[in-house]
Amino acid sequence: MDQDKAPTDVHGFEEILQYLKEARGFDFTGYKRSSLMRRVHRRMSQLNIDDHVEYLDVLQANSDEFVSLFNTILINVTGFFRDPDAWEFLRSDVVPTILAERGPDEPIRVWCAGCASGEEAYGLAIVLAEGLGIDDFRQRVKIYATDVDEEALSSARHAVYSEKEVQPLGHELIQKYFEQMGGRYSFRKDLRRSVIFGRNDLVQDAPISRIDLLACRNTLMYFTAETQTKILDKFHFALAPRGMLFLGKAEMLLSHSRIFDPMDLKRRVFRKVSTSRIDVGSVFGRSFLPDRREVDQVDTLRSLAFSTGPVAQVVLDTNDVVTLANQQAKHLFSLSDRDIGRPLRDLDLSYRPVELRGYIDQVRSERRALRIKDIEWQRGPGEVLALEAHLSPLLAEDVPVGVSLVFHDVTANRRLMSELNRANQQRESAYEELQSTNEELETTNEELQSTVEELETTNEELQSTNEELETTNEELQSTNDELQAINTELRERSTELDEVNAFFAAIMSSWPAGVAVVDTSMRIVVWNAGAEDLWGMRSDEAEGEHLLNLDIGLPVAELRPIVRPALSDPTYRQEIKLDGVNRRGRSITVRVVCTALRNRTGAPTGAVLVMEPYGNGDLDPEPAAPNR
Ligand SMILES: C[S@@+](CC[C@H](N)C(=O)[O-])C[C@H]1O[C@@H](n2cnc3c(N)ncnc32)[C@H](O)[C@@H]1O
Repeated sequence: MDQDKAPTDVHGFEEILQYLKEARGFDFTGYKRSSLMRRVHRRMSQLNIDDHVEYLDVLQANSDEFVSLFNTILINVTGFFRDPDAWEFLRSDVVPTILAERGPDEPIRVWCAGCASGEEAYGLAIVLAEGLGIDDFRQRVKIYATDVDEEALSSARHAVYSEKEVQPLGHELIQKYFEQMGGRYSFRKDLRRSVIFGRNDLVQDAPISRIDLLACRNTLMYFTAETQTKILDKFHFALAPRGMLFLGKAEMLLSHSRIFDPMDLKRRVFRKVSTSRIDVGSVFGRSFLPDRREVDQVDTLRSLAFSTGPVAQVVLDTNDVVTLANQQAKHLFSLSDRDIGRPLRDLDLSYRPVELRGYIDQVRSERRALRIKDIEWQRGPGEVLALEAHLSPLLAEDVPVGVSLVFHDVTANRRLMSELNRANQQRESAYEELQSTNEELETTNEELQSTVEELETTNEELQSTNEELETTNEELQSTNDELQAINTELRERSTELDEVNAFFAAIMSSWPAGVAVVDTSMRIVVWNAGAEDLWGMRSDEAEGEHLLNLDIGLPVAELRPIVRPALSDPTYRQEIKLDGVNRRGRSITVRVVCTALRNRTGAPTGAVLVMEPYGNGDLDPEPAAPNR
C-alpha cells in the first residue's frame, strides 16, 4: 500500500484497536498512533487490503491473523551493548555504585523490561559478572527479563546468536561468556540460570518489586505520554530505594523529574526519588539573656536625652497643655519655646497635619496606645513627609498624668516600601515571564523529545525494513543460484539436442527414400532430401503445408485413407502403391508406407510416410539435392 493511499479512516482504525483489546486481550491503545498506524497499514498492504473495516473482517474471521499483525507491530530490533557509551557508563559508574551501596552478601535484583531476543539481558549479566566476579554473580544476581512477545522470549531463552550479533561484545568477552558451536554462539549455561525470562505486559501487568537496576530501553518511546507516565509510576514502585533506571538514548523523563533524579542525563541513567523523603530541618535553641543594667539618670541627662531623641515627641499634661517638646518636634512642627506651657488646642499642631484631639481623648479614656498611620505633612514647598503618630497614655502608678505624642518620619520607609513593591511587582512579572518561558521551553523540549522519539522509531522501523530487505536479498540470491544451475543444465541439454538434431538430419538426408513426417493435423513437419529429389519440391516449400494440398506428381488425395488412421492409432502401419509422375516427368509407381508417429508415452503425434519407387526399381540415377 502506497503511504499516500494509506486509509485515513481514524474511526475504523480505533475499531481495530478496540477489537484487539476486547477479543484478543491486547491493548494497543496506549501506543503512539503514528507508528502504530504505519505498522498496521504495513500488514494490511501485505494482504492487499486498503480499508480498515475490511481488515477488521479478516482479523475476526482468521485467528492466525492476530499473530501476524502482532509480529508486524512489535519491533524487536535489539543488539548487544547498543549505544556503547551508555553501556560503558553502566560498567564504570552504575554497577560500582550499586555494589558499593549494597552489603557484600546482599542480593542484586535486575529487571530488563522489553528484552526482545535477550541480547540486553545477557549484556547486563556480562556487565554485572565483570563487576562482581563470576562466583558472586551466580550467588547474588537475579535478572528478570520480560517482554510481551512470546516468540522473542523463546528465542531469548534459546540464547544462541550469530557471529555478527555477538561482535559488539569484543573478542575477550565473547570467549569468556559464550560457547561456540558450529559458527553460532551460545551464552554460558551456568550463568544463564541467573537470567529468568517471562511474559510481562508493561501496560497491563503488575511490576516486579525490590529492583536495584531497571533497564527499559527503546521501549517506552512506542507509548503515548500518558501511558509512559503510568509505566514510569510502576517503575518507581518496582525500584528499591535509590534504585537505578536505565533508559534508551531517545528517552528523557523530562516530565518525571519529580520521581526520578538524573544520575547521568546524557547516558539516560536515573535514580529513584523516595516519595517519603523527609526534609530534615535544623532547629536551634537560643536563650536571650538581656543585659539589665540599672542606670541612675539625673534629670539633666534625661531631659537632654529626651531633647535630642531622634523622633519628634510632644508631651501633654492632663489638661492637654504642651509640657515638653523635643528638638525634632520643634523643627518638624515649627514650635518655639514659647509654645511650651500653651494648651494644645491653641497650636496648629492640634489639627495639622492631623486632627489630634479626638485621638488624644480616646487614648486618655481607653488608657491604650494608638497608632495613626498614613499622615501626610507638607513641610515646605515640594516637600511632603509621610508620618506615623504613636499616642500613648502616661500613667504614674496607674494614675493618668499625661499623653505622649511621638511622630515617626516614615517617608524614607514609605519610599523604600513603594520601591520594594515596584521591585516586587517587577520580580513577579519577571518570574511569570520566566515561568511561561520555562513552560514554553518544556513544551518545546517535549516536542523535541517526541520528534526525536519519532525519528528513533522511524530509525528502528528502517532498521527492521533493512533487515527484511536483507532477508529478501538472501532469498533472491538463493533463487538466483537455483536459476543458474537450471540454466547450465538447459545449455547442456540444448547442446545435446543440437547434436541429436544434426544426427537426425544426417539420417534423413542420407536416407535414399523420400520421407515425409506430418503432425496430427497432417501438416508437413519433415520433408527429407529423398522426397525433394523424388517430387522436385524443396523442404522449405513443403514444410508447414497440408499433406493433401501438396502440388506434386503423386495423387496425394489417395493418401488420406492410410494416413488418417495413423493419427489416432499408435500401432498403425499400412502401405499403398500409387502411380505418379516424378520430378523429371516420368511415370512411376511408388510404394508409400505409412506408420504412426508416437511420443514417449506411446500417444500418436503424427505419421511418417516413406515413399519409394516400386517395380521398375529405379531410384533416380541423378544425385540427391544437398540437404539444407
Ligand atoms: C525495539 S525493542 C527494544 C529491545 C531492547 N530493549 C533494546 O533496546 O535493544 C522493543 C521491545 O519492546 C517490547 N514491547 C512492546 N510493547 C510492550 C509491552 N506492552 N510490554 C512489554 N514489552 C513490550 C517489544 O516486544 C520489543 O521486544
